[in-house]
Amino acid sequence: NNRCIILGIETSCDDTGAAVVDETGQVLGEALHSQHKVHLLHGGIIPPIANRLHEEHIVEVVESALASSGVSLADVDAIATTVKPGLPLSLCVGKNYGKKLALDAGKPFIPIHHMEAHALTIRMVEKVEFPFLVLLISGGHALLVLAKSLDEWKIIGQTIDDAPGEAFDKAARRLKLRNIPECSSMSGGQAVEYLSREGDPRAFDYPTPMWKYRDCSFSFSGLKHTLYKNIEKLEVEYAIEGGRVLPNIRDVCASYQYALTKHIVRQTQKAMIYISTRELLPEENYSLVVSGGVACNQYIKTALRVLCHKMGYTLFCPPPKLCTDNGIMIAWNGIERWKAKTGVLYSKKDIEAVDIQGK
Ligand code: KG4
Ligand code: ZN
Repeated sequence: NNRCIILGIETSCDDTGAAVVDETGQVLGEALHSQHKVHLLHGGIIPPIANRLHEEHIVEVVESALASSGVSLADVDAIATTVKPGLPLSLCVGKNYGKKLALDAGKPFIPIHHMEAHALTIRMVEKVEFPFLVLLISGGHALLVLAKSLDEWKIIGQTIDDAPGEAFDKAARRLKLRNIPECSSMSGGQAVEYLSREGDPRAFDYPTPMWKYRDCSFSFSGLKHTLYKNIEKLEVEYAIEGGRVLPNIRDVCASYQYALTKHIVRQTQKAMIYISTRELLPEENYSLVVSGGVACNQYIKTALRVLCHKMGYTLFCPPPKLCTDNGIMIAWNGIERWKAKTGVLYSKKDIEAVDIQGK
């Protein structure tokens, strides 16, 4: 059997992930350890704590991915590991461990770009051919990218300040959503989405970021500040103290989610218009791939589906489990690079020279 098999390792942020994937896109084994609950207690990710937790869990996560796959390290063709972008103290744990495994076992090493992995995940489950348009929305990024080939990525829009996941997470923290029992273990984005379901999206007005610019950059910090101002007013109005939650929390969340969604959709539409005027994509490749943690959001996905319908695009979005950080997408990115014979490092010297890049 000469199917290619790759072990993928991910530690760029607060998830320790590993997976064994074959070239047909079959996930043979996987494991994921999330640090989410620990970071919730600190009100955000503290890099040295993330580093320690990755160190504590990396071995068991990789071993359990291998054990559940029934494949031994000796049968793996190469080891793919995220080396950029992310938190340096997180990235270095996976990078060091992945390199060590590769060098000890005499296997090739494939350095992986975390955002490229988010963008390519869809190709593991659906047929999407290059070139295509990608919208990456996560805790650290907002990117509109023209994916031309494995080695040609043209950024056509990115955030000038916060990332959308950050906008959701900071809102959730400020609104103390963790004190609502149903939301206590959800990510910020999940909690806001959950509460928005029964809220009025028009209850509060928000500005339209970047409206005077023709480019498709994102800006989320103005929306966040408007939310903070709204919350301050409401807290006075309702005499809110301590850990209590606003009585109209659902309307507050729904309006904010609506504002974030509208901005994401508008800038994506600008990218589509730019693409058609410059003829950057042939019409048969009018595909919008959406990925990253925020792509789990059903409300945003529905709005993007409407946009795609209007603009003649087909919307592709991986299942939620593959949108948030995981080892599977890293292994799959390794498969893509292995098959395309690009970015695979064979020599001890080349592997030893691999370093992380935070940005
Ligand atoms: O891609 P990801 O797992 O990690 C990064 O690379 O950043 O994304 C995590 C982000 C978090 O900010 C989280 O709040 C957000 O994705 N997220 C959501 C939802 N689920 C996760 N945002 C909005 N709606 C959701 N349902
Ligand atoms: Zn991510």
